Amino acid sequence: MNVLITGAGRGIGLGFVQYYLNQGANVWACYRSDASLLRKIDNDNLTIVRWDVVDDQSTKNVDILSAELDLLINNAGDYGPNKQQGQCLDSITPESMLSVFDVNCVGPLRVVQKLKDKVIAAKGKIANISSKMGSIEENSSGGCYAYRASKVALVMVSKSMAVDLAPFEVRVLALHPGWVKTDMTSHNGLISVDESVSGMADIIENIDQYSPGTFVSFDGKVIPY
Ligand SMILES: NC(=O)c1ccc[n+]([C@@H]2O[C@H](COP(=O)([O-])OP(=O)(O)OC[C@H]3O[C@@H](n4cnc5c(N)ncnc54)[C@H](OP(=O)(O)O)[C@@H]3O)[C@@H](O)[C@H]2O)c1
Repeated sequence: MNVLITGAGRGIGLGFVQYYLNQGANVWACYRSDASLLRKIDNDNLTIVRWDVVDDQSTKNVDILSAELDLLINNAGDYGPNKQQGQCLDSITPESMLSVFDVNCVGPLRVVQKLKDKVIAAKGKIANISSKMGSIEENSSGGCYAYRASKVALVMVSKSMAVDLAPFEVRVLALHPGWVKTDMTSHNGLISVDESVSGMADIIENIDQYSPGTFVSFDGKVIPY
C-alpha cells in the first residue's frame, strides 16, 4: 500500500505517518519547514519529501513518487491568526483570509491536481482533513473567519472531487480529526493524536460505507455541511 501525507512533520500528519508505517505501508511524508521528527524514524518504507502546498515549485518532487498511490491524505493546515485577537469581525484582514484559504483549501486542490493520475491508477482514496469548524450548521459561536471559511470551502472541494473522480473508482471524503492535542490547539485538545488518527484510519478503511464527499468525524459520525 502506498500512502502520501502532507503536513507530516508534526501533529496529526506525523501520527498518520507512524500509523501507516506500522501497517507496513510505503509512506511518502511531506513536510514544509522541519523534518527533524521524521528523520528520527528508522524505517525503509519511509520517504521524506519537502512539499509546501502553496508553492508550485515544491511539486517537482512528484517525480520521485511511485506510479500508484492508494491513499492521499491532505492534512497540511494553518489556523491563521489567534482566535480571540486576529479572526473576529473587526480584526480579520483580507491578507489573513487569503493566506489561510491558500493553505487549507487551494493547497489540497493543488496536491490532487498533481497526484490524481497516480490515485486513479491505484483506484485509491483521498482524505481531506477539514474541521467541524467548517460546518455551517454547527457554527453557533461565530468568529474564526479565515479558518472556518477555508475549511468549509475544503468540504465543498472534497465533494466536487468525489463526484469528478467517482467514474475512476477513486473515493473521496472530508474528515474532522476531533479536538486534538497538537501545536494547533496548544496541546489543549480533548483527544490524543493516536486516538484521532486511528479513528480516521478506520473511516478511511471503511470508506465505502459513506457516500462520496461525506464529511465525517474521527468517531464515525457524519457532520452536517
Ligand atoms: N488539532 C485539532 O484539534 C484539529 C481540529 C480540526 C482540524 N484540524 C486539522 O488537522 C490538520 C492537522 O492539524 P494539527 O493539529 O496537526 O496542526 P499542527 O500541529 O499545527 O500541524 C500543522 C501541519 O501543517 C503543516 N503546514 C502548514 N502550512 C503548510 C504548507 N503551506 N505546506 C505544507 N505543510 C504545511 C505544518 O508544517 P510546519 O511544521 O512547516 O509549520 C504542520 O506540519 C490541519 O489541517 C488542521 O486544520 C486539527
